[in-house]
Amino acid sequence: MAADRPTAGAIPDPSPETFARTLARVSEMAVAYLRDLPRREAFRRPPEDVAERLLNAPLPQTGVSAEEILAHVEAEILPYSLGIGHPRWWGFVRASAHPVGMATELLATTMNSNCAGSAQIATHLELTVLRWLTELVGYRADAGGLLMSGGSAANFVALAAMRERHLPGTRARGIDARSERPAVYATREVHGCVNRAVELLGLGSDALRWVPVDADRRMDVTALARMIVEDRAAGAMPLCVVATAGTVNSGAVDPLADMAELARREGLWFHVDGAYGAIGAALPELAEQYRGLDLADSIVVDPHKWLYVPYEAGAVLVRDPETLHQAFATQADYLEVQDEDYFNGPLWFHERGPQLSRGFRALKVWAVMQHIGMEGYRELWRHDLATAAELRRRAEDHPRLELAPSTHLSVCCFRYVPAHGDPNAFNRVLLDRIHRDGRLFVSGTTLESTFYLRACIINFRSTLDDARVAVETVVELGAALEREG
Ligand SMILES: Cc1ncc(COP(=O)(O)O)c(C=O)c1O
Repeated sequence: MAADRPTAGAIPDPSPETFARTLARVSEMAVAYLRDLPRREAFRRPPEDVAERLLNAPLPQTGVSAEEILAHVEAEILPYSLGIGHPRWWGFVRASAHPVGMATELLATTMNSNCAGSAQIATHLELTVLRWLTELVGYRADAGGLLMSGGSAANFVALAAMRERHLPGTRARGIDARSERPAVYATREVHGCVNRAVELLGLGSDALRWVPVDADRRMDVTALARMIVEDRAAGAMPLCVVATAGTVNSGAVDPLADMAELARREGLWFHVDGAYGAIGAALPELAEQYRGLDLADSIVVDPHKWLYVPYEAGAVLVRDPETLHQAFATQADYLEVQDEDYFNGPLWFHERGPQLSRGFRALKVWAVMQHIGMEGYRELWRHDLATAAELRRRAEDHPRLELAPSTHLSVCCFRYVPAHGDPNAFNRVLLDRIHRDGRLFVSGTTLESTFYLRACIINFRSTLDDARVAVETVVELGAALEREG
């Protein structure tokens, strides 16, 4: 007779004692990881043999114990993390994650909630977090949205809502971009995910109209106004203006109020990608730059960036949440719920976005936001801004370094100026040397044909002294590279 539950080899639920031992081991490893993080290289690439072993690992046939798996993780996985969270990890737009977020993430997976919607507590928590984010950036209290995996997915959702509002019925009939000739306005400083969203939504990247920028790399609104008029005259269909509040390249915040006003006059959707920088609206000393943010039709803000929440957590907020329903809601017999059903909750998030099954992202966002609080956040943000300012000051003062003009928020771009040769080629090699050295991690970018080393400081572990260490390291490595000729 077959056993009523599988046993041999199938490794079902461990006993509570065994699970507790596993968790104790995991917590030991997590604590050790964080303790050692500042002392290790900012980035450590996995050795070839480790990578090879993993890549060639066969499909497991016989189960192995949790202890064995954790021993493997400890030996061959944890040491080769990307290193985000190191005090001088300043590449791209990647933030240190708060340990309270890590701990609650474990509980989120313990609950294994599927956040499609329903009356579960996770739905209420997500609504709460969205309301907090709305208030944090000074948006409209009646806005609504959902948590997504990050800024790329959130921008896609926002632009899908835009498409459904401005090209109603597109979901059913599709779009003929050649005859309808949609136009979406942004600057070249916009994040690449906006291009991808425009492509995925069938508008075609030819729909993107690149509006020139001013000396601060902010959208030139006079040029925007002219382009809209010209495009209309030429038979195109202007749909949307995309602003960035905190560009990846330089941290610039587009002139939101002027763009909002023009978009309103022209009847266009006004979208603000504030994945990185929207939180600046919560700092009184920066608030002036963010005037007009509240007039947006949609806003993206990423908790996994400057709110220090572990990956993945992005958010999209839309002035009229009904547009999200128009863009995404689908009917399916297997999902039918009656209004009065016990299972029915305040909202079905799967009707607002592309995912049905959704992880319980809200728990870690809720926990970290609650733990730090707005007073704590303002202090941490100001410290990040001060560290970026210190880095700029040191780069500007150093005779071998050159600071890029006009960087904002917590972005600082600078380069080593070699006595001979092509500085762009030199700094590309220098960037690789910096990565190999491991004392800091920055990324690179090109501003007006000049390649720079680029730091974006959203890292509560960074100190002002880290700016000194970073500059000294870059100068030391740059000088060594020069000596090699
Ligand atoms: C302004 C901006 N928008 C969008 C994104 C994409 O966000 P994610 O990497 O979370 O998908 C980024 C990422 O750095 C960003 O800085």
